[in-house]
Amino acid sequence: MTDTAAAPWWRHAVTYQVYPRSFADANGDGIGDLPGITSRLPYLRDLGVDALWISPFYTSPQKDHGYDVADYRDVDPLFGSLADADALIARAHELGLRLIVDLVPNHTSSEHEWFKAALAAPPGSPERARYLFRDGRGPNGDEPPNNWRSVFGGSAWTRVPDHSTGSGQGGQWYLHLFDSSQPDLDWRNPEVGDMFEDVLRFWLDRGVDGFRIDVAHGLLKEESLRDQVVPDGVDPSSDASAMIERALTDEPMWDQPEVHDVYRRWRRVLEEYPGDRILVAEAWTQTAVSLARYVRPDEMHQAFNFAWLLAPWSAKAFAEVITGTLEELSDVKASPTWVLSNHDVIRHATRYGGGALGLARARAATVAMLALPGSAYVYQGEELGLEQVEVAPDQRQDPTWLRTRNTAAPEEGRDGCRIPIPWSGTEPPYGFGPGEGQPWLPQPASWGGLTVAAQTGDPDSTLELYRRALDARRRHAGTDRGDTVEILDEGHQVLAFRRGGLTVVLNCGEEPVELPAGEVVLSSEPLDGATLPANASAWLV
Ligand code: NOJ
Repeated sequence: MTDTAAAPWWRHAVTYQVYPRSFADANGDGIGDLPGITSRLPYLRDLGVDALWISPFYTSPQKDHGYDVADYRDVDPLFGSLADADALIARAHELGLRLIVDLVPNHTSSEHEWFKAALAAPPGSPERARYLFRDGRGPNGDEPPNNWRSVFGGSAWTRVPDHSTGSGQGGQWYLHLFDSSQPDLDWRNPEVGDMFEDVLRFWLDRGVDGFRIDVAHGLLKEESLRDQVVPDGVDPSSDASAMIERALTDEPMWDQPEVHDVYRRWRRVLEEYPGDRILVAEAWTQTAVSLARYVRPDEMHQAFNFAWLLAPWSAKAFAEVITGTLEELSDVKASPTWVLSNHDVIRHATRYGGGALGLARARAATVAMLALPGSAYVYQGEELGLEQVEVAPDQRQDPTWLRTRNTAAPEEGRDGCRIPIPWSGTEPPYGFGPGEGQPWLPQPASWGGLTVAAQTGDPDSTLELYRRALDARRRHAGTDRGDTVEILDEGHQVLAFRRGGLTVVLNCGEEPVELPAGEVVLSSEPLDGATLPANASAWLV
């Protein structure tokens, strides 16, 4: 794991996202855990990834499956213990894998000691000042302090009992941009920054290689907490303040300039530690320009490039994202990232149409992505070609569903991309856990052919394609190819680009196309001569 000064590991890494509840269950309780991840590390090494990012496994009431943290310095018993975390870090390093953990600084759980103390203390107290408590508007303060909506639906404010009587709901309101169990911290209070610096050091001391920063664009709000401007005709109760699709562009709750001071401080902390530790931003900002601010030289190292994930199946759209990304990042001298799926979005095989067509497109987009400069993020199960699963309403657990199911605009939620991984066998639980017990979300009966065991050794399988692609990336798409991408064709049918001596063709059209001269070193589908079928991609040297 040595780095050259010119190219630290993260500049070209492929990082595999593990959603711990759904990866591998060692103790048979139906929920994945840290020992389960440790037991499957050889699989990840053999797949050919360089690093793992693990979604939160800290003490949590699991209202948002770990993105509601009650203790940042401990492991939830559901997932194991601190000793299990140490063992996981050590084993990953032994196998040459880096390990990134998730940090959730925008909000705590309502079970965090700080929030419990805030509820017990009176308005105006130092305990309440760690969060965003405000008096309500209107007669008796019965109206929320402003018109902000939660990303998960409904108002972003919840009222607490009157402190003097301890009863009713007549007290102050607190802000939660997500679920009411996730109160937002007040990052203008210095105590908050000091606490998180300690948390960073706690995990850095244990040897983690970096942090994925949850809701990195959310920590600071416009100080006045003014109303969000809602133009006539826009319904703020639909997806008005959702991060991914926005109906509103005025955003006093997101992307405030002061947030960058937080990341400058964190960068200084990381630089005190040996090795190349990194910060990766999850920042759903509105433009590539605003995203680039998070990766200025003294801030974070990387930010997820959601524009790539949001692009429709179109050569022109893909070309525009590549050009736009590289342009904005070169201004701040940062390196790009590419991502197609994660635990919050519909799996890309389904987004691109589902079935055989969606899978072919997903394979083609992934193969093209892995040739681009910078680093790539892969979400568990995409290497098996898994699709989004329709979860029955009574099985859904996502707070988005729970908060909207009885409204005019119910949101199905994200459970469908979080189905436990099928490892082996012909029926659920497909080797997810040690026994026959079923996992926390039901797996489809049709997944027998998609298990790791079933796909291993089958050259046509998506798993073997990922293995070949990651191997080809090391040989043909490394940092020595440089960061410059020359777009050769960005018509509606074909995206073709050259990077160093590597040529990549992605056929987004409906007709086969002829490939340029050269040796094909990777293709998303078997090729017949020099013809690239529709919904396929290839690399040539
Ligand atoms: C983004 C995370 O990826 C998502 O899963 C979570 O629900 C929200 N942040 C709130 O923490």
